[in-house]
Amino acid sequence: MASAISYILFLSIFSSAFALGAAQPRQSNISLDTSLHTTTNPTSWHSPNGRFAFGFYPEGTGFSIGIWLVPSPENSTVIWTADRDDPPVTKDAVLKLTTEGLKLLLQNSEERLISNISTGNNASSASMLDSGNFVIYDSNSDVIWETFDHPTDTIMAGQVLGAGSQLVSGASETNHSSGKFHLILLNDGNLVLYPVASPDGSEDSYYDSQTSGKGYQSLNLDDKGWLYLLNDNVTYNLTSGYQSGTALVYRATLGVDGIFRLYSHDLESNTEQVLKKFPDVTDPCAVKGTCGLNSYCSTSANGQVVCTCLPGFDYLDANRTSNGCRRNFTASGCYSNNDNTTYMSTVYNVAWTEFSYTAPLSVTSKEDCGEACLKDCNCDAALFSDNTCRKQLFPLRYGKTDDSTTTFIKLVNISPAAAPVVTIRRKFSAKILIVSAAIIACIISSLVALIFFFYRYRAGRYRRLWRNKEPALVDEIAPRSFSYRELREATDGFKEELGKGAFGTVFKGTLPRGQRVIAVKKLEKVVDEGEREFRTEMRTIGRTHHRNLVRLLGFCDEGTNRLLVYEYMSNGSLADLIFKADGHPSWDERVRIALDIARGIHYLHEECETRIIHCDIKPPNILMDDNWTAKISDFGLAKLLMPSQTITFTGIRGTRGYLAPEWHKNAPITVKADVYSFGIVLLEIVCCRQSMELEADEEDAIILLDWVHNCFMDGELEKLVADEVDMTELNRLVKVGLWCTQSEPGARPSMKNVVTMLETNVDISLPPPPGFSS
Ligand SMILES: *[C@@H]1O[C@H](CO)[C@@H](O)[C@H](O)[C@H]1NC(C)=O
Ligand SMILES: *[C@@H]1O[C@H](CO)[C@@H](O)[C@H](O)[C@H]1NC(C)=O
Ligand SMILES: *[C@@H]1O[C@H](CO)[C@@H](O)[C@H](O)[C@H]1NC(C)=O
Ligand SMILES: *[C@@H]1O[C@H](CO)[C@@H](O)[C@H](O)[C@H]1NC(C)=O
Ligand SMILES: *[C@@H]1O[C@H](CO)[C@@H](O)[C@H](O)[C@H]1NC(C)=O
Ligand SMILES: *[C@@H]1O[C@H](CO)[C@@H](O)[C@H](O)[C@H]1NC(C)=O
Ligand SMILES: *[C@@H]1O[C@H](CO)[C@@H](O)[C@H](O)[C@H]1NC(C)=O
Ligand SMILES: *[C@@H]1O[C@H](CO)[C@@H](O)[C@H](O)[C@H]1NC(C)=O
Ligand SMILES: *[C@@H]1O[C@H](CO)[C@@H](O)[C@H](O)[C@H]1NC(C)=O
Ligand SMILES: *[C@@H]1O[C@H](CO)[C@@H](O)[C@H](O)[C@H]1NC(C)=O
Repeated sequence: MASAISYILFLSIFSSAFALGAAQPRQSNISLDTSLHTTTNPTSWHSPNGRFAFGFYPEGTGFSIGIWLVPSPENSTVIWTADRDDPPVTKDAVLKLTTEGLKLLLQNSEERLISNISTGNNASSASMLDSGNFVIYDSNSDVIWETFDHPTDTIMAGQVLGAGSQLVSGASETNHSSGKFHLILLNDGNLVLYPVASPDGSEDSYYDSQTSGKGYQSLNLDDKGWLYLLNDNVTYNLTSGYQSGTALVYRATLGVDGIFRLYSHDLESNTEQVLKKFPDVTDPCAVKGTCGLNSYCSTSANGQVVCTCLPGFDYLDANRTSNGCRRNFTASGCYSNNDNTTYMSTVYNVAWTEFSYTAPLSVTSKEDCGEACLKDCNCDAALFSDNTCRKQLFPLRYGKTDDSTTTFIKLVNISPAAAPVVTIRRKFSAKILIVSAAIIACIISSLVALIFFFYRYRAGRYRRLWRNKEPALVDEIAPRSFSYRELREATDGFKEELGKGAFGTVFKGTLPRGQRVIAVKKLEKVVDEGEREFRTEMRTIGRTHHRNLVRLLGFCDEGTNRLLVYEYMSNGSLADLIFKADGHPSWDERVRIALDIARGIHYLHEECETRIIHCDIKPPNILMDDNWTAKISDFGLAKLLMPSQTITFTGIRGTRGYLAPEWHKNAPITVKADVYSFGIVLLEIVCCRQSMELEADEEDAIILLDWVHNCFMDGELEKLVADEVDMTELNRLVKVGLWCTQSEPGARPSMKNVVTMLETNVDISLPPPPGFSS
């Protein structure tokens, strides 16, 4: 009710403003020192044909400056707004043309320039043109500034939107500040529509002109309603034109609802017509971003958009339900184990834009999908359709109704009664566990094939556009781009050095927002590849999410400055822990750490979307977080140094002592090279000593691998460890280490098998001598 009244009030203020406007003289030559006022005449300058006005219009409780169509006093269409994200000005504001440009004089003699003429103080007149363009001239009558160069949500006939430029929708029909959607002509010639709060990957777009790589330089509209892309003299028609007429005005506007529409206005009959829509849809939910993150879109019986939060989530702003939702419980660390308050809640018939952090699993039933997520610490939610299960992290995006998909949401620490559609409970019987373990084993074996299929399928329809921005929650989706200055400030001028690695020096820093402690790695010796390749690489790394991998938060790519921003690991490296510290970690701790590392490498090799060979697994690259969880660092960087990822013949990258023999033989490098390095690290963890120790007590103990093998063959394993340990476990770990370090890559187990051998009691056969080669 209140809003209806204020809307009527708004309309009446608007009408009176336009009525006043209509009575004003038409002025094509606006000379210096001429002013406009908010409520006393003149409030606007009109074009010679009287169809466009430039000046103050009412917005909210104040006034904004803009250009609008003047069809009749009751109706108006704003086509441009100055400084649209500044708050509206108050009643006593004055706008004046000065030599510096258009100057807004506010209360307390505050001044603001609304035109940015960077070329000097020589504005000498201005004009509201019949095309809807407001221009400022210098004394030679050359145009030095025009609104057509600074579009907001609309282009008019004769206006050109250049490559790299964008239109941003309005916030609402009555609020012309920046809204939720943008239209961009990408530098590669593709015209695309995205929600503003997205990282702008191809999966975020809801329309594109399919002209990627065609090099179109501009979006154009002519006075017949011909809307086209242009590259030199080559055109691509979005419409082929309509009739022309002196009373017809064409405009193309990105609407508040995210749809880009071509309109014609007949100024004589004062009618308006929509000629074309991009995308041409009637369902508002087809526009991605209509509902915010973690909510899904549906329409009510009367066609209104309804945004509904996921179970366990609340609206960010209860008065603006389309802004998205956030978790109403806190979840931290690995919450899938050891508690009986974790559930999978089920939402039927909602599909999301897929953003898996692992390759999809093929499963035979919905329940298996929910279970797979429940058991995976990293998993927040899972999507099931067509016997495929896709594990997701929050936030979920672009949800809309679709009866072929079932969504499972992991809920933590809430009472079962509060979980809306709970179908799977935390408690499993032993039988279920065995069955699902078998299923999972079977799934994993089909992963490799899937990964390739999936990766191909995911290759974007067009390239991504990166920009520096920081809308809420986006840094949860993708690594952020930082400026060099920001990182210099965050690290206090690269003051505190944490260490030096193969790729460069690492510094400690703090981000001002949230006081988050970070580790900033300055890359040196990195192949100078294109900016796009670097950023693609960053995105690949940024998409890896695993409990046992150090998380990439962002990067900087400015000229020769390339820096990576990681979460800070407070407890140093594994090398500090097992080689230097006075006391060694207990046996149980060591077994747990070995398993952590194995899981991290397994994920890199088989579970993440793009397979990653680490190439430099060694204790200094394994870091310990606050909870002493081991996390692998520096993964994905080998590719920045090497041309080919899966198989490579180029120079040696790893570290002596941990290098697989194939590195020295010029043989192809595969994931098995990491398995070898892991084997060495495993033996080091077992024995708490380095792979080479020149001051060893016995001469045959210099090379760890040989010493371990000899002790193993002689049945003297107790010599390897200083502390009391479980001999069966020791035997098992040593056998795994010896299998991993076989010189023949094919003889080494996969990381999946390594994890299984470490985790379970499967029988491990007797390893051949490390040097054995068939
Ligand atoms: C505008 O008027 C001024 C004098 O009032 C004149 O010097 C100038 O040339 C005119 N400009 C245009 C574009 O007509
Ligand atoms: C217009 O919308 C913006 C962004 O949503 C908001 O910050 C601003 O307060 C709104 N202005 C008015 C007058 O409602
Ligand atoms: C104002 O324009 C809208 C279309 O934008 C139209 O539906 C409405 O009838 C117009 N109102 C008047 C009073 O002309
Ligand atoms: C004015 O434009 C220049 C470049 O055209 C830009 O560098 C500058 O930041 C702008 N100033 C303002 C206040 O927008
Ligand atoms: C306006 O100023 C710019 C930069 O100072 C200069 O290049 C241009 O020639 C000037 N125009 C006139 C008409 O003085
Ligand atoms: C575009 O113009 C160039 C010369 O300017 C001409 O060689 C070429 O054939 C033209 N292309 C088309 C498609 O008209
Ligand atoms: C594009 O539209 C223009 C103007 O209507 C027309 O002359 C041209 O033939 C059209 N081109 C194509 C390929 O349809
Ligand atoms: C969280 O939201 C669910 C509904 O989605 C509700 O049942 C539950 O009570 C909420 N919990 C809290 C702590 O607000
Ligand atoms: C929502 O709107 C109501 C009434 O307009 C207001 O009382 C309340 O404070 C608003 N809530 C929020 C979270 O802004
Ligand atoms: C789990 O449930 C059992 C009973 O089923 C209860 O005794 C135990 O305290 C619960 N544990 C937690 C962490 O809530």
